[in-house]
Amino acid sequence: MFKPALQNRALSQSFLSQAARSLSTSEASLKTGAAEALSKPEKIKYFKVYRWDPEQNQKPYLSTYPIDLNDCGPMILDALIKIKNEQDPTLTFRRSCREGICGSCAMNINGTNTLACLAYIEDDTAKATKIYPLPHMYVVKDLVPDMGNFYEQYRSIEPWLQPSEEKKEGQAEFLQTKEDRAKLDGMYECILCACCSTACPSYWWNSDKYLGPAVLMQAYRWIEDSRDGSTAKRLEELDDAFKLYRCHTIMNCTKVCPKHLNPGKAIAQIKKKLAH
Ligand code: SF4
Ligand code: SF4
Ligand code: FES
Repeated sequence: MFKPALQNRALSQSFLSQAARSLSTSEASLKTGAAEALSKPEKIKYFKVYRWDPEQNQKPYLSTYPIDLNDCGPMILDALIKIKNEQDPTLTFRRSCREGICGSCAMNINGTNTLACLAYIEDDTAKATKIYPLPHMYVVKDLVPDMGNFYEQYRSIEPWLQPSEEKKEGQAEFLQTKEDRAKLDGMYECILCACCSTACPSYWWNSDKYLGPAVLMQAYRWIEDSRDGSTAKRLEELDDAFKLYRCHTIMNCTKVCPKHLNPGKAIAQIKKKLAH
């Protein structure tokens, strides 16, 4: 009767001692890592970060934070998290996935819009790294831009499937050929970080009326979807001097996309379809 219980107890004891062993190993490797970091000479890099708090009656300014690169992860986001944890808890920025998927850590780093979690810290300690919010956006606080207008514009293109046919009884999915599916490659991967739109001069000056590259590429993603039945309506909606034709093919958008997508090309394709 008691055997299984005894076996279980023996098993749990062995599991516990294993866990204790692995804990002490990781503790030991952590200690070694910390000791190694301490034994290296300091490698101080300065980060100049844009600060603005609407609750303080103060103009925007730059705060400078020193970081020992021997004791910091390799990405700009690692540095920002370290600053927030160890030097200044009031520093405000967005982040979530830390692997280029959520798009929330988009900011302007050394003059380029990019994702802080995918941007390596430059090794050169002689040069400070400058970090600003995405350009030409209203700022909520520090590095947090107001994305309200951008999301409103995204909503305006109705970014969901509007099927060309009713589902038949028992039909679970709308199918498409592999070739039709491949037409969406290079567009569906967009994470809506807004790096492209906020690098576009036309968007800087007309973001109230011009949809910008990110939203236009998403509009084209649905125009190109073989399962969608609203293609003509979608194109008609875009045929507007401001919504679409403010794009002057400057291509900053494509240059800057941290996911290596080509919104400039998608815009050109929309214009081509409308010209026919
Ligand atoms: S190609 Fe068009 S959308 Fe892209 S940066 Fe130039 S003007 Fe803006
Ligand atoms: S196209 Fe690239 S830069 Fe633009 S929103 Fe999508 S992922 Fe970001
Ligand atoms: S934290 Fe998600 S993209 Fe950088």
